[in-house]
Amino acid sequence: MSALMTEIEQGREADRKTLPGPILLLGAPGVGKGTQAKELVKIWGIPQISTGDLLRANVAQGTPLGLQAKEIINRGELVPDTLVNEMVAARLFEPDTVRGYILDGFPRTLGQACWLDARLAGQAGALPVVAVSIQVNYNQLLRRITGRRICPVCQSIYNIYVNPPKRDGFCDIEGAALIQRDDDTEEVFKERMRAYAALTAPVVEHYRDQGRFAEVDGDRPIAVIAAEIIAAVERLRQ
Ligand code: AP5
Ligand code: MG
Repeated sequence: MSALMTEIEQGREADRKTLPGPILLLGAPGVGKGTQAKELVKIWGIPQISTGDLLRANVAQGTPLGLQAKEIINRGELVPDTLVNEMVAARLFEPDTVRGYILDGFPRTLGQACWLDARLAGQAGALPVVAVSIQVNYNQLLRRITGRRICPVCQSIYNIYVNPPKRDGFCDIEGAALIQRDDDTEEVFKERMRAYAALTAPVVEHYRDQGRFAEVDGDRPIAVIAAEIIAAVERLRQ
């Protein structure tokens, strides 16, 4: 019995070192959170949980949450914490999150961060979060946002300037006509940046202070950034 218990304990210890656990991708609009999350999904086989994508799916389906969120998103403001936390809580109950998950665009306020911290603290055996903040300068961000195109079927992300599809206007994987997000205008981008500076920048400092935090330069090729994030997470999980 005790030998079996030791084996289980050793297994748990090994898991703690190899499981990705909860990863937070933080950064301003357009830094590449979604792009990097998709790279990490391929490596670790854990889900990407993008609160922006979940909210847009609710808008598209016309759910009560979507009806409340639509105008807020299109103004570039943040959806209230209680609504977003509830949506994330429901997603985290799904079984594919057991080995870890990549939170893309959450938490975005100190209220959301405290909610997540408390939730993980109350979960026996849960690994602590590793937070990665991606940095890109303002002018690059504006170009990325206005040049972004998305596949409505598989959510692949392109950019007409720097990361175009093989056939102009169509997804490489699905062949579907690419779309532009309603909030990807210069005017709404400025509002999103204001919300980021006022409400989300303090979240970055919150996780920096907690340790298990890395900052990466997002103005490099996608694969180079992904490799740096993976190395940082592995180092911070030791
Ligand atoms: P959300 O969808 O999360 O938008 P965001 O944070 O503004 O971030 P983006 O999705 O615009 O950018 P990204 O960092 O994912 O960049 P991407 O990889 O696409 O949120 C939208 C709205 O929903 C919010 O404004 C708010 O209203 C609401 N919301 C969401 N979460 C919320 C929350 N937690 N609380 C409250 N409200 C919430 O890349 C951008 C472009 O750059 C692409 O074209 C891509 O091809 C290109 N690119 C990426 N990487 C590179 C690279 N290395 N080099 C060159 N180009 C690159
Ligand atoms: Mg995104």
